Amino acid sequence: GKVRVPTHIVSTICDDRGDEPTYYGVTMSELIEGDYGVGDVISLLWFKRKLPKYASKFIEMCVMLCADHGPCVSGAHNAIVTSRAGKDLVSCLVSGLLTIGPRFGGAIDDAARLFKAACDAGQSPQDFVEGLKKKGIRVSGIGHRIKSKDNRDKRVELLQNYARKFFPSTRYLEYAVSVESYTLQKAPNLVLNVDGCIGALFLDLLASSGCFTEAEAVQIVEIGYLNALFVVARSIGLVGHALDQKRLQQPLYRHPWEDVLYTS
Ligand code: ACO
Ligand code: LMR
Repeated sequence: GKVRVPTHIVSTICDDRGDEPTYYGVTMSELIEGDYGVGDVISLLWFKRKLPKYASKFIEMCVMLCADHGPCVSGAHNAIVTSRAGKDLVSCLVSGLLTIGPRFGGAIDDAARLFKAACDAGQSPQDFVEGLKKKGIRVSGIGHRIKSKDNRDKRVELLQNYARKFFPSTRYLEYAVSVESYTLQKAPNLVLNVDGCIGALFLDLLASSGCFTEAEAVQIVEIGYLNALFVVARSIGLVGHALDQKRLQQPLYRHPWEDVLYTS
């Protein structure tokens, strides 16, 4: 019989060999002629399934709401400085992307891991927060530089309202909110931030949409899919900042001496 030559690569998401490429089996024509959006494209290429409309709309909301947060945050700052150093667009973009991590934008996966473990174990918010404190670990998804109890993050409010209206369950979100109620007793800036909110809501989507098995949900959280939402979203803003600087013909950036405490 025929012997299959071993391949060097196994790939399961996009097939470009036929008349038209497919995203997990869905043709380009179907994407364009049918009722598909960017949230569906993300669902097909990342999760290998078409999610219900409310879920793909939620993914699109995450992308829209995290696309930018002004010029002062780490990522935009890096992209701006790089652009002003005369570098090309891709260099500006990756220089901004490289700041995404546990403190900025990249706390979604860890927040989901922590909230899932604590909520599934029935841990009280107090035991959860104090347990992490004993280990010297910050609660991912909690805390913000400029947002606080009296200056809440509109993005978080919009995502919460949407999920409470359309998700079958918001069990993990409510747990995260109860953690926030506890941390807010400690300091006013220890709010549930946008990373934490997305992390908790994705857990709800994985658990209650009926689209994922328990094993798949665990794998998604373990692999760390969720920071990718912020990466994709913020790329939109980083490109915007890089182009903005070029359009404005801004010169090479040098940080002012007055703003540095020289101690040597
Ligand atoms: N868990 C526990 N304690 C915290 C947390 C947290 N998540 N955040 C701050 N604190 C405590 C600090 O220990 C500190 O107390 P201490 O001075 O007694 O040690 C106090 O609150 C103030 O801390 P700062 O470092 O001044 O807070 P800052 O405003 O710099 O931190 C930050 C903001 C980085 C977001 C922080 O809250 C944090 O690390 N959060 C967890 C990571 C996270 O969720 N990042 C995503 C933010 S949203 C986004 O980037 C899109
Ligand atoms: C962001 O989305 O970049 C922010 O939440 C971080 C910040 O400090 O504004």
